[in-house]
Amino acid sequence: MVIIKVLFVCLGNICRSPMAEAIFAHLVRQKELDNDILTDSAGTASYHIDNQPDHRTIICLRKNNILVNHHARQFIMNDFDEFDYILPMDRNNLEDILSLRKHSKDGIRLMRHFDPLEKNAEVPDPYYGGSEGFDTIFEILMRSSENLLEHLIDTHKLHDRNK
Ligand code: 4NP
Repeated sequence: MVIIKVLFVCLGNICRSPMAEAIFAHLVRQKELDNDILTDSAGTASYHIDNQPDHRTIICLRKNNILVNHHARQFIMNDFDEFDYILPMDRNNLEDILSLRKHSKDGIRLMRHFDPLEKNAEVPDPYYGGSEGFDTIFEILMRSSENLLEHLIDTHKLHDRNK
C-alpha cells in the first residue's frame, strides 16, 4: 500500500508546524487513516534543533485535548523526495524551501491554500506575541487541516482503499 507523506514547515519548528502536524495527525487518527498518511514537521532555520515545541504550543494543544510529541529538526533537501505534500506556513517559509532547489515540484502549497475562509493567507508567526496568538493559529490550522484531509481523501480515494 502506498503511504502518503505530509510535511508541515515553518521557521523554528517549535510553534506553527508542530501544532499543524499535531492537529492534522489527530484528525488522521480520528478517521483511522494512520496506516495511509504519515506526518512530520520541520523548520527552515536551525535555531531550535532538538527542542520540544514552545510551551505555548503545548498548552494550547492540551486545552484542545491534542497530544504533541516532536523534537525540532531543520528542513533538508531529502524532504523534497521523501514527502508528497509540503505545506509551508508563510511566504518566507515557501520561498526559503523553493530557493534550495532549481525545479519546483507538485505538492508544495501554502498551508492556507486549504483554508476555506481565507485561501492562501499566511499562518501568522505567534512567537513574539502572547498566548492568544496561539489560539488564533489553532483555529486557522484546525480548519485548514480538516480541508487538507478531505482533499487527500478525495484525491487518493482513501476510504475506498480501506474497504
Ligand atoms: P515558528 O515560530 O516558526 O512557528 O516555530 C518561531 C519560532 C522561533 C523563532 C521565530 C519563529 N525564533 O526567532 O527563534
